[in-house]
Amino acid sequence: MASVAPRLSAIGSGAALELRGVTRMFGALAALTDITITVRPGERRAVLGSNGAGKTTLFNCVTGDFLPTSGTIRFFGEDITRFPPYERIRRGLRRTYQISALFPGLTVQDNVYLACRGVSRGRFSLLRPGANDALMHAAETLIQAVYLTPARDQRVSELAHGQQRQLEIALALAGAPRFILFDEPAAGLSPTERRELIEILTSLPSHIGYIIIEHDMDVALRVVESVTMMHNGRVFKEGLPEEIQSDPEVQELYLGGGHE
Ligand SMILES: Nc1ncnc2c1ncn2[C@@H]1O[C@H](COP(=O)(O)OP(=O)(O)O)[C@@H](O)[C@H]1O
Ligand SMILES: [Mg+2]
Repeated sequence: MASVAPRLSAIGSGAALELRGVTRMFGALAALTDITITVRPGERRAVLGSNGAGKTTLFNCVTGDFLPTSGTIRFFGEDITRFPPYERIRRGLRRTYQISALFPGLTVQDNVYLACRGVSRGRFSLLRPGANDALMHAAETLIQAVYLTPARDQRVSELAHGQQRQLEIALALAGAPRFILFDEPAAGLSPTERRELIEILTSLPSHIGYIIIEHDMDVALRVVESVTMMHNGRVFKEGLPEEIQSDPEVQELYLGGGHE
């Protein structure tokens, strides 16, 4: 019977991501209090909330950048609560940062190639014939998926802000992710760049689920099927995009100055 328990716990609820009672303290400050959220495989969810609501801290707990003070986090059934970040990446979890993590002196192609190479360690051996071609091909496909083919040989430092954000998405897509956390990908984008971002997100392969933190409700509600609204570190409301948009309490929170 010893083998039954781990097998059952690996099956879990069938969710892609499941947080149960997650609390994160910073000294006396509760950045997250008793967060319970379930996201199905392939589901796309927005997390909304005013500045300081706990959205980025939620991402940090899921990625392992911070550990929760209490509560559990499961990724495709597996308890990852205390896993280091690279173990979560290995299992197909990715994130983009509010602040860019690109190599500014390298070209678009080099950045994407290095990301593909970084996540492929052990899967393709670079000593194997053709491995490098496979990585180059994977990089090209990702560059195309984020509309950066015309800029592939430009250095990151020469790219427009919107193109840098597109490149960050390409890096998150390297190595067959199953789930991506996008932290305010539309921040600082022009209206045209926002439309492009919406297209990129809506044309991602359907098995890839994500959570998007986004202040721009028009962007967020167009690219998701469900919404979690946070307030003061707690889940304030969950629902369909149209329910959240027309909810009087949400409108009051959003229009009432709590939102920057
Ligand atoms: N590393 C940290 N150390 C101390 N306090 C933090 C840290 N990160 C976030 N906080 C605090 O936790 C709360 C939630 O922050 P955050 O998750 O960044 O909110 P959001 O992303 O919704 O704006 C805020 O009060 C913030 O000041
Ligand atoms: Mg934030």
